[in-house]
Amino acid sequence: MSIRGRPAGDFDYEQNGAGYALVRRPDARIAARVHAALGTSRTVLNVGAGAGSYEPADRYVLAVEPSAAMRAQRPVGAAPAVDAVAERLPFDDDSFDAAMAMLTVHQWGDVEQGLREMRRVSRGPVVVLTLDASALQQFWLTDYIPEVVVVEQTRFPRSSR
Ligand SMILES: C[S@@+](CC[C@H](N)C(=O)[O-])C[C@H]1O[C@@H](n2cnc3c(N)ncnc32)[C@H](O)[C@@H]1O
Repeated sequence: MSIRGRPAGDFDYEQNGAGYALVRRPDARIAARVHAALGTSRTVLNVGAGAGSYEPADRYVLAVEPSAAMRAQRPVGAAPAVDAVAERLPFDDDSFDAAMAMLTVHQWGDVEQGLREMRRVSRGPVVVLTLDASALQQFWLTDYIPEVVVVEQTRFPRSSR
């Protein structure tokens, strides 16, 4: 259970997050782009880290993850994870060389505040991986589950915002 007693985002991982790490698999092409975007940073904050997808293994990483069920799925040897939320990061300004957020901003209660917080605590790049909701129409699965895609489109923030 989280110290907040309720889900931090729009999905309840305490109830529905079991087995997440079994099905979530990073893509090597995306990993390469994420790690390139992190540049030469030596200390990285991973916000909404889940079980740790795309965390670089060659530098110091600290994870922020509000769900205990998700923190429990982090592999042995993964970076330590703090129970906190993007909107209120418990770190001083410029604490990290870089910050990253992988497929998580669509779940935050206040995306702009969370991004402001990432900007505040990182003295270097802020790397965000998310979905372009408008491009979901071109996704092959849309032909089979159009209703699901319509719902998903409303969850993702517009990149132009
Ligand atoms: C789809 S999972 C992605 C996890 C991981 N980043 C990955 O790529 O596999 C979204 C994660 O965001 C976390 N999350 C939801 N709301 C959050 C918030 N307000 N602040 C930080 N993390 C949040 C969830 O607990 C969950 O672990």
